[in-house]
Amino acid sequence: MSHDRIDSILQEERQFAPPPAFTRLARIRSASELAALRDRAAADHTGFWADLARGELSWHSPFQTALDDSAAPRYQWFTEGTLNVSYNCLDRQLANRGDKTAIIFEGESGDTRRITYAELHREVCRFANALKAQGVVKGDRVVIYMPMIPEAVIAMQACARIGAIHSVVFGGFSAESLKDRIEDAGAKLLITADGGHRGGKIIELKAAADKALSHGCASIEKVIVYKRSGHTINMQAGRDVWWSDAVAAQAAQCEPLWVESEHPLFLLYTSGSTGKPKGIQHSSAGYLLGATVTMKWVFDIRDDDVFWCTADVGWITGHSYVAYGPLACGATLVIYEGSPAVPDTGRFWKLCQDHHVTIFYTAPTAIRALMKHGDAIPGRYDLSKLRLLGTVGEPINPEAWMWYHRIIGHERCPIVDTWWQTETGAHMIAPVPGAVPTKPGSCTLPLPGIAADVVDEQGNSITKPDKGGYLVIKKPWPFMLRTIWGDHDRYIKTYWGKFGGKYYLAGDSARRDQDDYFWIMGRIDDVLNVSGHRLGTMEVESALVAHPRVAEAAVVGRPDDIKGEAIFAYVVLKGERPAGGVDTALTEELRAWVTEQIGAIAKPDDIRYADNLPKTRSGKIMRRLLRSIAAGEAITQDTSTLENEAILLQLQGKQ
Ligand code: PRX
Repeated sequence: MSHDRIDSILQEERQFAPPPAFTRLARIRSASELAALRDRAAADHTGFWADLARGELSWHSPFQTALDDSAAPRYQWFTEGTLNVSYNCLDRQLANRGDKTAIIFEGESGDTRRITYAELHREVCRFANALKAQGVVKGDRVVIYMPMIPEAVIAMQACARIGAIHSVVFGGFSAESLKDRIEDAGAKLLITADGGHRGGKIIELKAAADKALSHGCASIEKVIVYKRSGHTINMQAGRDVWWSDAVAAQAAQCEPLWVESEHPLFLLYTSGSTGKPKGIQHSSAGYLLGATVTMKWVFDIRDDDVFWCTADVGWITGHSYVAYGPLACGATLVIYEGSPAVPDTGRFWKLCQDHHVTIFYTAPTAIRALMKHGDAIPGRYDLSKLRLLGTVGEPINPEAWMWYHRIIGHERCPIVDTWWQTETGAHMIAPVPGAVPTKPGSCTLPLPGIAADVVDEQGNSITKPDKGGYLVIKKPWPFMLRTIWGDHDRYIKTYWGKFGGKYYLAGDSARRDQDDYFWIMGRIDDVLNVSGHRLGTMEVESALVAHPRVAEAAVVGRPDDIKGEAIFAYVVLKGERPAGGVDTALTEELRAWVTEQIGAIAKPDDIRYADNLPKTRSGKIMRRLLRSIAAGEAITQDTSTLENEAILLQLQGKQ
């Protein structure tokens, strides 16, 4: 579709009202029903959440205090209550949904499995018993480094069942990243697989795990290995145990351990503005409440739905909308192991067709990548079961939105653009699809009970339409992060420092339009969004300068049609700059080096060599200038402080 055509569509129909056929059956069917929820939350914020917590979760013992803010910003929700997250996801489904399919799995090569709630319950219990037999007790950290297979979810649920704190590390991260995360968490046990399938290749998870453990990770006592790829791997006697052996003698019953509401359910590492990722710590009750209510409000989940969130369990989206939220609602969910392009770019649509997917949730980068291959490919598949579409991870450009709406949703499915973060635990700003008209590119309005606002430098609300400011959350919410593992000061400084402890600072800039709709404008810190994944520029810089030939590096984002942002690195070498600024072999070596240090998602797309980096008089790297150069824009910044103007030509690749 041409840009002109899209512009005219957007002008004619800037808003897309909820389709009547959708609304008729929706949980929340009108603006007034939604307004009633908002009013209730506005009148009694903690009471609103407390009622939901009582109604939505199964408690072992009830909570007495809805919100304890006496040690703010260490907020505690639903204190004195005890419950178990795995019980809430599995045991409470057994009475009515024991034979219902919980997970439909498809491997990259087309192998499929269906697992009922009763079977999932048994597998989780057996694995929980296996963890106990390996000495794992409440509060121990367990790192999970797995392919996208049901056992990843089983491992997470088993940890939750016995009160162990899991920390899932995305399988695309390197041995080095795995080691850093294991060490920061002080994990006792590692769960991995021999390998996973992706892009027609085997991802060597166990080999990476061996490498990580050979460099450190002294806290790890045991490694449990699931056999997925079946290729030969090294098993270290006394340390490594096959999953099948670990569960062989275990009973299919395991009493859930009742834990306090605030007991940490998991840590999940995410990038910030320093070189060191932050271990975001989530609670049990508050977190599960967020995953559950947003499944209902935003995904409108029903018993006959087949729900597919394409995220890997290594990201927060795969926690809230694969491992926990859908199961807590008794839904049927799809898990797909592999790449969207194997055997061709119709794979997602074929999966939707074959498994009768009704709700599909993915990232704008995937939509853009698939859109590039044209309308004919999705046209080959029956997508008539779809009733709701969602996006997450980055702003969606109107062109991709329109394609999703027309070609995938056949103009029948509302699109929920959901703004949230690892730290927020669940959706925060998103349409309630039966009640809120959508606008392409806007995540619309905050959910009930979420006090989102856009403020200026002083923390005052910006009321003028379309004026940008800081996105903040003005009241605590149950599914917020509790702290940064091992670094509470960093938690306070990062999220609460800017406005004197009053507001949670999201780290995004945003604006509101005349209808109060939120439009996310981008990060305010040095964090990139590459294919919907957060990556700190400092992390990539640290990886580059760890290479023996690199003296200095500066990394910025460059706008990219598919990935949103691409990684652009400026590098100063020890010794001579390559002649003419070109050294293809070294560039490839540095790209491979970063892949090894962090993972393929951090591999620089462009590397440019210079004798120096442009700095201000006080020695700060002029990042805005570097961003303009990377984007190929005209330079408007003052460059008079540059010691050597020739550097500019080098940075621009002209010399
Ligand atoms: O910049 C925002 C962007 O992704 C960041 C959070 O990244 P992460 O913690 O990895 O979680 C991603 C999945 C929840 C945010 O600070 N972001 C996320 N969703 C959107 C978004 N930007 C615009 N629109 C969204 N819907």
